[in-house]
Amino acid sequence: MTAEIINGAEISKQIREELKEEVAQLKEKNNLVPGLATVIVGEDPASQSYVGSKVRTCDELGIYSERYDMPADAGQQELLSLVDRLNKDPKINGILVQLPLPKHIDENEVLIAIDPKKDVDGFHPINIGKLMIGEPDFLPCTPHGIQVLLQRAGVETEGADVVVVGRSNIVGKPIANILLQKREGANATVTICHTRTRNLASHTKRADILIVAAGQPKSITADMVKEGAVVIDVGVHRIGKTAEGKNILCGDVDFEAVKEKAKAITPVPRGVGPMTIVMLMTNTVKSARMAAGLC
Ligand SMILES: NC(=O)c1ccc[n+]([C@@H]2O[C@H](COP(=O)([O-])OP(=O)(O)OC[C@H]3O[C@@H](n4cnc5c(N)ncnc54)[C@H](OP(=O)(O)O)[C@@H]3O)[C@@H](O)[C@H]2O)c1
Repeated sequence: MTAEIINGAEISKQIREELKEEVAQLKEKNNLVPGLATVIVGEDPASQSYVGSKVRTCDELGIYSERYDMPADAGQQELLSLVDRLNKDPKINGILVQLPLPKHIDENEVLIAIDPKKDVDGFHPINIGKLMIGEPDFLPCTPHGIQVLLQRAGVETEGADVVVVGRSNIVGKPIANILLQKREGANATVTICHTRTRNLASHTKRADILIVAAGQPKSITADMVKEGAVVIDVGVHRIGKTAEGKNILCGDVDFEAVKEKAKAITPVPRGVGPMTIVMLMTNTVKSARMAAGLC
């Protein structure tokens, strides 16, 4: 069996088109323009590039954006004051503080300071709690993107055995909770594995849907996957450069071998990655609707 490739780049493009239309309608009918503020501290090139693409995507979709670049030695209070100001600014519906923050800043204190109604990253404890009890406002972007990928690729999650490899707060735990919920696009039986799991393969091999967010390049091999499984690879690793200087990427799954066994699989790149930004935009539009009493 050669797997169907779940094309995250294509699916995210469709969602961008839908969002662009929704934003245009909000402006026309309700005179409402969603706004996103991005905050970056320091010069980390990867963070600069992520924030750059978030701002460009806002422009493309008609979402208002403000970008704040703070020096690497900016203080905790300075950052908290900015968050406080953005919390009170009615033009801003979403606040995104790019992680990681420099070591002298207490990341948790900053994330907790964001108004949960503007927490479009979905990392505030209130939003994590709402997800747990099945009444979410904002789902964290990467795990939400995985759920939407599964739905749009026509993968049935109801009653499926889902195995998640990884228990981070940003991917593993939230995707497990999202797919566990008693609702459409979820209703799965979920197992979470981590570095203390005994006999990892005994779990991965019984997964109907295997979601891998371990941060270990090509660590899931074909012998660890059930014939006909759906495999979602969240990992992203730079493993070299092409002659033209472009990054060569791979995921946490041994794609070439596993695609011969799986029913469907996400590639790296063009799999889960492109979904994260569109889910951030989806949350920003939702936040604007909520603030205006439109949902
Ligand atoms: N596409 C995107 O938009 C996107 C977004 C976020 C992350 N990512 C990528 O996804 C990957 C995971 O990210 P993350 O932030 O969740 O990583 P993380 O914080 O490093 O967490 C990795 C998790 O995997 C578990 N793990 C590591 N090696 C394992 C092994 N051999 N067997 C079983 N479990 C193992 C760890 O277990 P312990 O808890 O026991 O240590 C941990 O829970 C990374 O490659 C990251 O770059 C991609």
